[in-house]
Amino acid sequence: MRRLIHTSLLLVFSFFLFVGCDHQNDTKMNDDSKPKSEMNEDEKQDLTEAEMDEVETEAPVKETQQDAKQGNTNQVAANPASIAVLVNKQYALPENYHPNDLVYPEVPFLFEEKIEKRMMRSEAASALESLFAGAKKESIHLAGVSAYRSHATQTSLFDRYVERDGMEKAKRYSAVPGHSEHETGLAIDVSGSDGRCAVEDCFADTEEAVWLANHAWEYGFIIRYPQGKEEITGYQYEPWHLRYVGLDIAKEIQQSGKTLEEYSQTISTSKEK
Ligand code: DAL
Ligand code: ZN
Repeated sequence: MRRLIHTSLLLVFSFFLFVGCDHQNDTKMNDDSKPKSEMNEDEKQDLTEAEMDEVETEAPVKETQQDAKQGNTNQVAANPASIAVLVNKQYALPENYHPNDLVYPEVPFLFEEKIEKRMMRSEAASALESLFAGAKKESIHLAGVSAYRSHATQTSLFDRYVERDGMEKAKRYSAVPGHSEHETGLAIDVSGSDGRCAVEDCFADTEEAVWLANHAWEYGFIIRYPQGKEEITGYQYEPWHLRYVGLDIAKEIQQSGKTLEEYSQTISTSKEK
């Protein structure tokens, strides 16, 4: 009899122990369960309708947070071939955009080869020739470093920078493919003909940089990423990066001290009125 009571007690105890463990497992499963936005289609099919609603709302929020963190949105420039086109972290070029009037400007570059990065759109190339000639008259000897870049070139360049410096740092000086002005054929990085400090911070202190800051506008170019405007342009100071916008806009930007972002905003606001 004593043995029977003992056995029954053991059975009852084991039952509660089993139920308790299972409950603990339940809680653990919930804590570690996959976010619904990461579920595959089969897993989603097991959800109730209410849970599905959650999936629909969770995913876009996640994307938005990621975009905000990366500083890019993908509005597409409406007139990619316009001389005044705004291409930046918010506005991309349309997929497969390729300028159709690229030529080789007749100016010295730091390299001899006739390759892609020597090209610019025809109007910008003529203006660049005038700018180099104007500088030379004042004993400023310039050289091109890098002008047009195809989408593929910008992609491999950007990927290399991300690998070297990490995404956050790379994005302060290099554009995500599709968002680079170099892909428009209207931008060029310029140095002195000796190549000293080419595309480096110390270029800012050279006489070539000072001349460009004072005179580039006279030929329709702007210093696109000025000092102290990173919050607006999205990029750190690049005294070597010239963008062709045409004489009228360059003059307005030089006189007002605005960035191209601010100028474009003023224009679109006044058109809305
Ligand atoms: N360095 C500029 C921002 C570009 O990559 O287009
Ligand atoms: Zn540049």
